[in-house]
Formats: sequence, structure tokens, C-alpha cells
Amino acid sequence: MSLRKRLLNLTVLLGICYSCVHAAVYGPVISANFPDPAILVTPNVTYAYATNSGNINIQVATSYDNGTTWTLLNGTDALPDVGPWAIVNSTWAPDVIDRGDGTFVMYYAAESPSQNTHCVGAATSTNAVGPYTPEAQPIACQTPGGGAIDPAGFQDVDGQRYIVYKVDGSSLGGGGPCGNANGQYSTPIMLQMMEADALTPMGNPVQILDRGPQDGPLIEAPVLILHNGTYVLTFSSNCYNTDLYDISYATAPSISGPYTKASSPLLVTGDDGLTGPGGATPTPDGTFMVFHATVNFNPLTRYMYTATISWNGTVMSV
Ligand SMILES: *[C@@H]1O[C@H](CO)[C@@H](O)[C@H](O)[C@H]1NC(C)=O
Ligand SMILES: *[C@@H]1O[C@H](CO)[C@@H](O)[C@H](O)[C@H]1NC(C)=O
Ligand SMILES: *[C@@H]1O[C@H](CO)[C@@H](O)[C@H](O)[C@H]1NC(C)=O
Ligand SMILES: *[C@@H]1O[C@H](CO)[C@@H](O)[C@H](O)[C@H]1NC(C)=O
Ligand SMILES: *[C@@H]1O[C@H](CO)[C@@H](O)[C@H](O)[C@H]1NC(C)=O
Ligand SMILES: *[C@@H]1O[C@H](CO)[C@@H](O)[C@H](O)[C@H]1NC(C)=O
Repeated sequence: MSLRKRLLNLTVLLGICYSCVHAAVYGPVISANFPDPAILVTPNVTYAYATNSGNINIQVATSYDNGTTWTLLNGTDALPDVGPWAIVNSTWAPDVIDRGDGTFVMYYAAESPSQNTHCVGAATSTNAVGPYTPEAQPIACQTPGGGAIDPAGFQDVDGQRYIVYKVDGSSLGGGGPCGNANGQYSTPIMLQMMEADALTPMGNPVQILDRGPQDGPLIEAPVLILHNGTYVLTFSSNCYNTDLYDISYATAPSISGPYTKASSPLLVTGDDGLTGPGGATPTPDGTFMVFHATVNFNPLTRYMYTATISWNGTVMSV
């Protein structure tokens, strides 16, 4: 238990308001390997999606009680066809949005044999659990930078659609944790404006964040939300297969930045008994999130957890 949580418990016992909204971490809520989870809230059903496992390209789980209890649909592949540009068993870190016209759009990363890197692409379905039909071409590859991974959709208050994703510089190699021990490669987070179809990129992507010395070899897993007029970009830093992996965030007054990293991460190893928490996806309203934590390093196994989020201005806590 973190010091903050101990203080919280103590102040609750003493009847003092510490954070005023008493928030919590729950889980594991899916006790199966379910890394990099995304969340989609619909009126009656909440969905979670995750990185490939076994021969399932994109895993899917459902909750009928607002994210409290979850059922892994363990025979279901939301993305049985990964698209002509991609290969199976290479799909990572999906995200799904409801386009509002009866179509759901899934963003995902997969290995492109022609680029020899991961690229990000999109697929559509009229059913949230899929099967999703992939677009013929990826959205972005960023091949010289090491590939593109970890896409997530965002819709601004004016209706404009975007995606954010990571340029996978830490895949370029160089030894050490996640192959970027000396920090010689950038792992920029990119913001890409999208057409109203949420599938077609508009103009060029812009960089909104990058790794710094405090982030170890990388930052990744970006998700953008708008909270009370502030753009909030959650991300993970450090190497995913170490206990330094964490969940952090940065905030900005406008969508293109400048983004300021929070002075301390949202969740790190040791908080609530978690190891290597990461891959978080908050709901668009910023009240709740899904994330994974490591339960075994060999073979690497990451279960899904949830947390309610509270805010003090632009400071997040769980
Ligand atoms: C919110 O943040 C302000 C400024 O840092 C601090 O003074 C205040 O105590 C915080 N409120 C709560 C409820 O934590
Ligand atoms: C949600 O559930 C209610 C009550 O069962 C039902 O009337 C409604 O049609 C459902 N909505 C959707 C989108 O499935
Ligand atoms: C995908 O992974 C599954 C489970 O590990 C394996 O059985 C299958 O052969 C793999 N498919 C390909 C095309 O590599
Ligand atoms: C889920 O949340 C909605 C909206 O807050 C509420 O109307 C509904 O009763 C909740 N459902 C359950 C099962 O808790
Ligand atoms: C799928 O779920 C069922 C029921 O929970 C369980 O018996 C089975 O072992 C699971 N299969 C896999 C591959 O996890
Ligand atoms: C929203 O932000 C404004 C300042 O921009 C602040 O006065 C207000 O308390 C915030 N509301 C919430 C719910 O955080």
C-alpha cells in the first residue's frame, strides 16, 4: 500500500476529507493475460479489448454492471482478419470508438511484413464485439522511427476526430531494457487529425510528447481525454516487462500542447499491491479506467484491473 493510500485510510478512519472523492483500484477483474486494455462504454454494455493471446488477435470482454464484473469472451476474436497489410499473432494494444452512426471503429497495431515494423490501422464493425473488417491500408507506419503502435481515438468538443499513437523508437534495438538503454532513440507520441469517418488521416501528424530521462527507455500507450477544459494524455513509461512500468499523464491547455508531464505518476509498482501497472485507458469522461498489471514475468502475464479516478484541478489520483 502506498503512503498516500495509508494516509487516505487513516484520514477516512479519522473522518477527515483527504481526497473528498474516495476512489479505489479493483481487481484483478480479468484473471487471464489481457494486456494493454481499452474500454468502450455503451448504454447497456461496457467492453474491454486487449492485445493478442494464443491464436486470438484481439481479445474482448464484456461487463453488464458498468465495469464492475467482467466476462472474457475467450473463444471470440474481435479481429479475425488483420488486413492485407498485416500478419496474425502480431496485434497489439487496440482501442475502439463508437462513431455514433451505428459503426464502431477499432484501431490496432500489427506487424507489416513490407515495412518490417508495426503499423497502426483501423477496422470497422456494426457490432461492438466484432468481427471488425480491416481497412485495406494502414493509417501510419513511421518506419524510419521504428514503427507505429498503441493507437487510441479521441473526439474533441467541436466534433473533430483524432488518433494518438507512439512512434516505436525503442524497437530499433541497442540493448538494455526494451532495447533503448542509453536513450538514443526517441519514442514520440503523435497526434493525427482524422476525417469524420475516423478512418482517413487529414494532414500530417504532430508530435505532442516524447520520453525524458525520468521515463527510462520509452513512453507509450497514449490515450487522450478532455477533462474540464484540460487535455489529459495518459501514458506508460519505462520498460513493459520490468517493475518500473507505470501509468502517468501529461496535461495541456490545447490539443496540440504544450503538454506538461505530471510531477508524479498515477500508479507505480507497490501501489495497491500492483506490479508494473500500465497500458491504462480512461473513459472519455475521466471517471474510470482499465489497465493491466503484471502477475508473472516469465511467461509475461498481465491481468486486467480497474480504478475510479478522482481529480483535484488537473491532478489525477486513483
Ligand atoms: C487540491 O490541490 C490543492 C493545490 O495543490 C491543495 O491545496 C488542496 O489541498 C488539494 N485538495 C485536496 C482535497 O486534496
Ligand atoms: C438497453 O437496455 C434497455 C432495457 O433492457 C433496452 O430497452 C434498450 O433497448 C437497450 N439499449 C440498447 C442500445 O441495447
Ligand atoms: C498464432 O499463435 C497460435 C498460438 O500460439 C499458433 O497456434 C498459431 O500457429 C500461430 N499462427 C501463425 C500463423 O503463426
Ligand atoms: C450503470 O450506470 C448507469 C448510469 O449511471 C445507471 O443508470 C445504471 O443503473 C448502472 N447499472 C448498473 C448495473 O449498475
Ligand atoms: C475459456 O473459458 C472457459 C469457461 O470459463 C474455461 O473453461 C476455458 O478453460 C477457457 N479457455 C481458455 C483457452 O482460456
Ligand atoms: C473546472 O475548471 C475550473 C477552472 O478552469 C474550476 O474553477 C472548476 O472548479 C473545475 N471544475 C471541476 C469539476 O473540476
